[in-house]
Amino acid sequence: MTEHTFYMDLALQNAQAMKGQTDPNPLVGSVIVNDNRIVGIGTHLKAGEPHAEIHAIRMAGEQAKGGTIYVTLEPCSHYGRTGPCAVAIKGAGIKKVVIATLDPNPLVAGNGVKILEEAGMEVIIGVREEEARQMNEVFNKFIVEKKPFITLKAGTTLDGKIATHTMDSKWITSAASRQDVHRLRHENMAILVGVNTVIEDDPELTARIPNGRHPLRIILDSTLRIPLDSKVVTDKLADTWIFTSQQADSEKEQTLINKGIKVFRTSSSRVDVKEVVSILGEQLVSSVLIEGGGSVHASFLEQHLIDKVVLYFAPKLIGGKAAPTFLEGTGFEKMADAVDLTHTEIIKIGQDFKFIGYPQYSKGEKK
Ligand SMILES: NC(=O)c1ccc[n+]([C@@H]2O[C@H](COP(=O)([O-])OP(=O)(O)OC[C@H]3O[C@@H](n4cnc5c(N)ncnc54)[C@H](OP(=O)(O)O)[C@@H]3O)[C@@H](O)[C@H]2O)c1
Repeated sequence: MTEHTFYMDLALQNAQAMKGQTDPNPLVGSVIVNDNRIVGIGTHLKAGEPHAEIHAIRMAGEQAKGGTIYVTLEPCSHYGRTGPCAVAIKGAGIKKVVIATLDPNPLVAGNGVKILEEAGMEVIIGVREEEARQMNEVFNKFIVEKKPFITLKAGTTLDGKIATHTMDSKWITSAASRQDVHRLRHENMAILVGVNTVIEDDPELTARIPNGRHPLRIILDSTLRIPLDSKVVTDKLADTWIFTSQQADSEKEQTLINKGIKVFRTSSSRVDVKEVVSILGEQLVSSVLIEGGGSVHASFLEQHLIDKVVLYFAPKLIGGKAAPTFLEGTGFEKMADAVDLTHTEIIKIGQDFKFIGYPQYSKGEKK
């Protein structure tokens, strides 16, 4: 480990701890070092509040002069809700800037570095670049495409089942895996399910961890079959939005609106998932966790809309043709059409296996 990676790791750790509270802004950490001593530490805490570098500069005060600042993302160059950080770094008298990754935000993209270099500072780019880019996978997509980063999550048996043929589904995975899912919910701005999951399980869809942030709850329901006494309609623990179609009954729509539910109609006779994604982007929802069931998963995957897959495999077997799997729909015709998952990882959680992978749609264009 070099001096640079040591300080950058500290900045990354602090930034990472804010997952779930900065969106739609990125996670950013910063450390200022002078004479081999840490004199300032800063982390971006919340959109609209000071950026990481500003917190670190304020902490360092006069000791920032002549020092080195480490920052996990290129300092900003634009006047947004806060002033440009690149200008603040220059003003603090810092001599060297070490950056993990450039900012994909078209408003910044290299301009921050330009300000720093023009001010005569030494700039080093690319220390822990891969880690920093991965940490902000949600921001990196949202800031460029204005569409949410979508994660498909399911808890399944080793044969891919999410319930038995009698629809018994409690519990497939262990308590430890379910706890991990609550963290995933906390990290995402919204959680999305199909209406059958609401009808069959009546879930709360909340993040039940200490200081957990309950995500916005999104239900796909083409004809507004959602029961009016379901928890997502009545409990007020988090906002609930329902996406429905042109077929939906206006009276039921009004009843739901009167209960504080937001209802969006997509233009087709069944909820159009591409339209859902576009609307969520417009509403500044930068991340969505899809928690099924299988037909909703299939609709998103077939349209190449899933960015990341997180599967919790319990070492159990159910079998049965009628037992639902986490991926239903019609399915692809040919093996050549199968979606490949890359950058895969397996983590053991108790007896379960958490699988992470990223769909690669290069065989066909994103639909
Ligand atoms: N183990 C797990 O991780 C897990 C997670 C979630 C659910 N589950 C289980 O999964 C079962 C429910 O799965 P499911 O597949 O029957 O139901 P689902 O995905 O919860 O809901 C499917 C329904 O969503 C509506 N929908 C609206 N637009 C859609 C679209 N574009 N694509 C797909 N669906 C759309 C459809 O009803 P309309 O046509 O009426 O709109 C469809 O029937 C439950 O037994 C639940 O326990 C397990």
